Amino acid sequence: MLLNTRYMIQQTSRHFTPREQTHLARYGVDPLLQTYASAPVEYISGKAEFCDFIINVNENVLIPRIETEKLVALAATEIKKQLASDQISLQILEVGTGSGAITVALAKQFKDSWKKLQFVATDISKNALRVAERNAVELLGKYAPISFIKSDLLENTQAEQFDIVVANLPYIPSERIAKLDESVKAHEPVLALDGGFDGFAVIARLLDTITPVLHPKTRVFLELDHTHSLKNFVPYQKRGWQVTLSTDQAGYIRFAQLTSPV
Ligand SMILES: C[S@@+](CC[C@H](N)C(=O)[O-])C[C@H]1O[C@@H](n2cnc3c(N)ncnc32)[C@H](O)[C@@H]1O
Repeated sequence: MLLNTRYMIQQTSRHFTPREQTHLARYGVDPLLQTYASAPVEYISGKAEFCDFIINVNENVLIPRIETEKLVALAATEIKKQLASDQISLQILEVGTGSGAITVALAKQFKDSWKKLQFVATDISKNALRVAERNAVELLGKYAPISFIKSDLLENTQAEQFDIVVANLPYIPSERIAKLDESVKAHEPVLALDGGFDGFAVIARLLDTITPVLHPKTRVFLELDHTHSLKNFVPYQKRGWQVTLSTDQAGYIRFAQLTSPV
């Protein structure tokens, strides 16, 4: 098994929790391995579980979180609805794809409808896109209808294109980054975490620039920080967006579903 050698440096000896031991055993990694005290086991094994599949991860991408499985479910419900309404084709955009977990999960779920679907997955990080592309090929094959584009938000996407947009962008308020668990702040990419002053800066920049790449009544699905609320969306409601918030598996506000104005 090919291990991530970055983590095989002699460091302080480490006690793995039962969950971590199970993960290492599942991927054939020796738990007596000497590693950084705080490295997430997913970066050591190079594997993370998401929805019903196993995805490749490395330190260039966020380890996909269980909350995000619900974001996938929300977007999947909308795709199903639009396919059932005899929509001839659907253009689906994911902004900030990281490991590709969300787009791969959606494309996998709707494999029978690939002829009608086109996915575009973007990230500002070229190294993240490499991981996402590898995951798409390994999990879906060479012919999955997905284009990966390096882009600062929507910069390199085309105008009036998308029917559904999904984004789990960085949303942690900057001042909270230093207080995160060592395993997160010392290892996961800050580019995937830091959402600016109130955690809403990157999301706001997306919403402020999104209209030209949407069909009317496009549905936008966002993952949020638990400190975000409808107050963050007031400027968009004033511009005619409809906004609904929903909670994650732990009961925290975590998702926004927006419908763009006509
Ligand atoms: C929270 S991570 C989510 C990754 C993945 N979608 C997931 O749910 O596991 C946010 C991702 O957004 C990307 N990102 C940050 N700023 C961006 C920007 N301005 N434009 C595009 N992508 C960006 C990061 O590189 C990172 O991969």
